[in-house]
Amino acid sequence: MKGIILAAGAGTRLYPVSMPISKVLLPVYDKPMVYYPLSNLMMGGIRDILVITNEEDDPKFRKLLGDGSQFGVHIDYLIQYVPKGISDAFIIAEEWIDGDDVALVLGDNIFCGPEMQSLIRSAIEENEGATVFGYRVDDPERFGVVEFDADMNAVSIEEKPNKPKSNYAVVGLYFYGGKACGLAKTLVPSDRGELEITDLNIKYMEEGRLKVKLLGDDVRWLDAGTFDSLLEAGNFIKDVQTRTVKNVGCPEEIALKNGFVTKEEVIERISKFKDNSYQIYVKGICGIDTLKTEQSKNGIL
Ligand code: DAU
Repeated sequence: MKGIILAAGAGTRLYPVSMPISKVLLPVYDKPMVYYPLSNLMMGGIRDILVITNEEDDPKFRKLLGDGSQFGVHIDYLIQYVPKGISDAFIIAEEWIDGDDVALVLGDNIFCGPEMQSLIRSAIEENEGATVFGYRVDDPERFGVVEFDADMNAVSIEEKPNKPKSNYAVVGLYFYGGKACGLAKTLVPSDRGELEITDLNIKYMEEGRLKVKLLGDDVRWLDAGTFDSLLEAGNFIKDVQTRTVKNVGCPEEIALKNGFVTKEEVIERISKFKDNSYQIYVKGICGIDTLKTEQSKNGIL
């Protein structure tokens, strides 16, 4: 399966903060936001990755992520010139996808929880048509909302409804079979002028090929697209990392665990960073105890 990170969009909800830079490059505690969705794709074992950006931010994403080789993946880039909607990703990327199965993750979606890797892996392995995730929220009117029947089959999905039929938001991580591009081309723009991802999901639902899995209590989902949710995301990540002494959304760590890179490769890259908690963490997972190294340099050990 291939993976797309959608990171274009006007980002006007975060103006003036996102005026000079894409919101997906803003920091969420100790790393750029894009590291989180990138990590989710890598957790699923996906190594062929496309980043869709707007024209202005394209060089900045390239500077940060390069060709992906530092994380043992391959990253390509395409530009969305006009924010025509999330489903437009499948029209822009049709040639790149080349008929393969594809995962799409929104650049401002952050997932955290020990179950995440197995949820992503099983979505990839079991997907037949489309697989999406539902997450219980208090403010469903901000999202795509899925309604279930008594057997938990999806019976309706509505984009930002005034009167939501459930409290389950469809989160920004989607898995599709090879037909997604063809179906995306049949969509018409919504009242707000966008090719909605919800409309693509409805197509699969109508064909009886949409699977909606629920994210359980031990997964936290954050859409970091507003001032409050961006701050909440940063605070949440800091809190989890302090409490568990484990990083969330660290591509170097996932690359190592998946065998995409060697420790030596990670150490070589991370040594170019200035000493900071991110570098110390990554060195730590490579087996380098920075404190001891410093002490022995200073003749203490
Ligand atoms: O976060 C989950 C929600 O994401 C879903 O529940 C909704 O069904 C889905 O429509 C979407 O809603 P948002 O209002 O949060 O979407 P937003 O316009 O904020 O775009 C999400 C990301 O996609 C953001 O990082 C920018 C990017 N994007 C968006 C559009 C419309 C693009 O790159 N191009 C676009 O044309």
